[in-house]
Amino acid sequence: MIIAIDGPAAAGKGTLARRIADAYGFHHLDTGLTYRATAKALLDAGLPLDDETVAEAMARKVDLAGLDRAILSQHEIGEAASKIAVMPAVRRALVEAQRSFAGKEPGTVLDGRDIGTVVCPNAPVKFYVTASAEVRAKRRYDEIVEAGGRADYAAIFEDVKRRDERDMGRTDSPLRPSEDAYLLDTSEMSIEAAFQTAKSIIDTALSRN
Ligand code: DC
Repeated sequence: MIIAIDGPAAAGKGTLARRIADAYGFHHLDTGLTYRATAKALLDAGLPLDDETVAEAMARKVDLAGLDRAILSQHEIGEAASKIAVMPAVRRALVEAQRSFAGKEPGTVLDGRDIGTVVCPNAPVKFYVTASAEVRAKRRYDEIVEAGGRADYAAIFEDVKRRDERDMGRTDSPLRPSEDAYLLDTSEMSIEAAFQTAKSIIDTALSRN
């Protein structure tokens, strides 16, 4: 069983993916971390972010078992990740690794931008999790403030919109809902409600297997 979850940044797809993986005992891969790990390796090595051959070689070295969101969450790494994510050779390398992860038993949950459209087009269950840019920016803002940090809502809002443009506007594997994905708009829905909706859809799919 493969569950594909796509959507823009800060829509709640990571939280939803983890809850589903915990509930069913499935393996979870946050594919954004594979792009972030590649970007961090380039930054750490002082290598350029605009050389596709160099970036592809780094992508091929990414160890899926060693991905840690705490180390990869920095803003600078996210920015660099979205730049190398436009490169077809980088995407090919990371998609190969993601597909081999997807085959693990008893099941997997992959979240990202192109899981339902490119990485696992045959996944029996697909969700497209979204929320308005305002709501997503507010969530980011609250997260930073709750963690004791200082945040600028206007700057975060601009950043969310810029990231959306880059993810949706690229030629290779742009962010878009797969035609057979269930749409979950979390603008006015709690993550718990989204999880309950997802759960009943997954249960139906499992009972068909
Ligand atoms: O979700 P995130 O912020 O960790 O993702 C980092 C970048 O990687 C983001 O700009 C989109 C890109 N990405 C992608 O192109 N395809 C994926 N499947 C996951 C992330």
